[in-house]
Amino acid sequence: MNSAQDNTPFEQPASFEFTAENREKAGWYIAKYPPGRQQSAVISLLYLAQTQSGGWLPQAAMRHVGDVLGMAHIRVYEVATFYTMFNLRPVGRYFLQACTTTPCWLRGSDEVVAACERKLGIHMGGSTTDGLFTLTEVECLGACVNAPILQVNDDFYEDMDGALTEQLLDALRDGRPPPVGSMAGRPDSAPVGGKTSLTQSPEPPPWQAALTEKPEEKKPEAGETPHAG
Ligand code: FES
Repeated sequence: MNSAQDNTPFEQPASFEFTAENREKAGWYIAKYPPGRQQSAVISLLYLAQTQSGGWLPQAAMRHVGDVLGMAHIRVYEVATFYTMFNLRPVGRYFLQACTTTPCWLRGSDEVVAACERKLGIHMGGSTTDGLFTLTEVECLGACVNAPILQVNDDFYEDMDGALTEQLLDALRDGRPPPVGSMAGRPDSAPVGGKTSLTQSPEPPPWQAALTEKPEEKKPEAGETPHAG
């Protein structure tokens, strides 16, 4: 299933070509594979084409990728329609991917989805009429430790709940995206309630102290001349 599902008609551009910069990047991806295996770069090139097209893959872009890699167009379509990371129709400027797999679900992804739907007036697979937002559901994004996750374009917003989701959507609409990461403010994946182990620095072992100890300086006896050096 491709992610953004919507029946609104849209136009396919008649043509597509990589920009000079993206042609160079495409060459870099292709060069990673041995001669004759350049088709292995198809996913990277499709993603490049999708980014250049504003977050979706027009048919002309898929054909262009096929031509660049010497691949039958149908083979490229097969890849693009298999992976949910490719959008086959236009998406909003902010492509919201709500993870609803078990860890995110246990930590409240239902609230995140409900907040998106309520605030934006759309359902899964839909886009707002102003072209700003598209909402879709995805499987595990690989960041369960800070669940639930709402991905916005390439960025992860973590530790979400309903209220934080609404704040995030307001901020995006105003064009002032907050810093990515935990919206609840926890550093990285630190425990929510503070440390419960390794709370104190351990005493250094005695042998370490011996290594750092300076030998005691011998005081000169009365009348004895101290050695130089
Ligand atoms: S289950 Fe949501 S990031 Fe893994």
